[in-house]
Amino acid sequence: MKALVLAGSPRKGGNTDVLADEFLRGAKDAGAKVEKIYLDDLRIRPLGLVGDSPARRVDVRAGDDFLKAFRRFIAADIVCFATPVYVQGMTAQMKCFIDRLSAYKWRKAYRKKVSDKGYAVITAFGAPSEGRWVTAPIKAGVENLGGVYIGALSVVAYKKGEAKKNPRALAAAYSLGAKAVRRIRNER
Ligand SMILES: Cc1cc2nc3c(=O)[nH]c(=O)nc-3n(C[C@H](O)[C@H](O)[C@H](O)COP(=O)(O)O)c2cc1C
Repeated sequence: MKALVLAGSPRKGGNTDVLADEFLRGAKDAGAKVEKIYLDDLRIRPLGLVGDSPARRVDVRAGDDFLKAFRRFIAADIVCFATPVYVQGMTAQMKCFIDRLSAYKWRKAYRKKVSDKGYAVITAFGAPSEGRWVTAPIKAGVENLGGVYIGALSVVAYKKGEAKKNPRALAAAYSLGAKAVRRIRNER
């Protein structure tokens, strides 16, 4: 069982990163192998022009770093999207990754691997109730992938270090990671 965090913030050690680490700690304690990818370390361009037929999409930008992350995404049993709210949405780093997925997710070779995963979301943001800008589109995206939606954690935290001082949020992130592993193990 492998759990992967896709970290969408450019701020290493920031709020979503700290929560993501707790998610992975919970997943590890529940028996998973864990890893994290900082999307900002990779050069992943926005999705290029694709045709209207989803199954026939070609990723015209496959020469960048997307496939490095995609291979690890495909190999994972659990994927946690960790991204702050940036301007009422996810970060561009995360959006590029998710858009690029759409060039692969309908291919026969990947269909089962994409739908057979558990997905979770972690987000942090400065203004109360802004979490929905990240949780709603990612939940809808997971439903579209046909994956198992485990749940989301939304935490109000603005300055670097705020999430670290929030024991309830840290505990919730840990529980979400452990819950993801238990749920996927039970489903198999
Ligand atoms: C460019 C930018 C845009 C932001 N937009 C929002 C926003 O729309 N709503 C909000 O509540 N917080 C917003 N924030 C605050 C971040 O969500 C907040 O600082 C968060 O803790 C950052 O997470 P991180 O430490 O994981 O990078 C924004 C921050 C930046 C840098």
